[in-house]
Amino acid sequence: PLAVFRQMRQQDPVHFDPRMHGWAVFRYDDAQYVLSHPQLFSSEAILPGQPHLPSFLGMDDPRHRKLRNIVSQVFTPRMIEQLTPQITAVVHQLLDQVAPQGHMDVIRDFAYPLPITIIAGLLGVPAEDQDTFRSWSDSLTAANGTNDTPEARATNAQSFQDYFLQKLSERRRQPQQDLMSRLINAEVDGEKLSDEELLEFCRLLLIAGYETTANLLGNAFVCFDQYPEVAEKLRQHPEFMPGAVEEILRCFPSVAGDTRVALEDTTLGGKQIQKHQVVSVVATSANYDESQFPDPERFDIHRDPNRHLTFGYGVHFCLGAPLARLEARIGLTIALRRLQNIQRDPGQPIEPVQSPFIIGVRNFPITFT
Ligand code: HEM
Repeated sequence: PLAVFRQMRQQDPVHFDPRMHGWAVFRYDDAQYVLSHPQLFSSEAILPGQPHLPSFLGMDDPRHRKLRNIVSQVFTPRMIEQLTPQITAVVHQLLDQVAPQGHMDVIRDFAYPLPITIIAGLLGVPAEDQDTFRSWSDSLTAANGTNDTPEARATNAQSFQDYFLQKLSERRRQPQQDLMSRLINAEVDGEKLSDEELLEFCRLLLIAGYETTANLLGNAFVCFDQYPEVAEKLRQHPEFMPGAVEEILRCFPSVAGDTRVALEDTTLGGKQIQKHQVVSVVATSANYDESQFPDPERFDIHRDPNRHLTFGYGVHFCLGAPLARLEARIGLTIALRRLQNIQRDPGQPIEPVQSPFIIGVRNFPITFT
């Protein structure tokens, strides 16, 4: 849709879409404006009939700030950095499993298992419970092509809740050196998180951190297939990987946009927005805005600055960005080092993810030596 978005940026950058009962925002500056004025554009006021976003992702300040501050005390870039050995070990394990065969489905065998194993580890799920945890997570997030009935989904959500409430009480009795124990004890202005808030945060990690990262990893392989010279360059120069990850995030944003609701009548790009109308920031378009990114359709791993909006902007900026970046940098560097002559298996058609919110593919079979 790049050509359509280009046209929208020029001709109707703040566009009313009757099917959405709201506005789509295509230009970078307007998108940034919406995301940096949460007092006008709310994350909390949701439409009737839509599921509430979990935890503080779906809240406005001051509650959002309070909960985010507590979590961000322990979910710090430094703490994430310490996951390097675990991430490296999981990547090697996953590749060990497929290496003898010489082929894999990137999505099934690599992109999904890596982030969910890391999230499970963060939440302190022991190895013997990991398979169960994954099946609940797939059901809860409808990830990995799971097509559960609403009843099955409700049962899985309940099991997830019971499991974590039990874990929380275990951690209260016997604190450990893990994220959960630290979250239980973290406080701001004498206030701690309640059990319900802790549980909401577990759900948030899954919903915000699982499919998003999986699709980033999948999209990277789509990119390597499309630009084999880039893959080759990264093999020779792994130090360029951080820039490559940012460019993959810009060009194939696994989160396609962010939704807000206007709290007041206001104007944006010369249009009258009415109170209660939905305003959707289209990251997929803003990331290609020529006023921000020279020659935007060129895939350039050396692009600097590269201020894409794929992790959002402003007070809700993705708290998991350091983790997503670290998983992608480590995972892709090791994959390129270990897998040579990567070829897409032409016999199997690639299916895109069927969601307006996610850019990604549902399968990506490759062969390698
Ligand atoms: C928020 C994208 C990975 C945790 C967000 C937002 C975006 C985003 C766009 C802001 C949404 C809004 O403003 O409405 C992504 C992408 C990821 C990724 C593209 C991977 C490529 C992760 C991971 C975690 C995580 C791995 C944690 C394990 C969060 C949390 C928030 C958030 C906690 C809420 C922040 C707040 O509301 O203050 N993410 N995310 N994300 N993300 Fe991520």
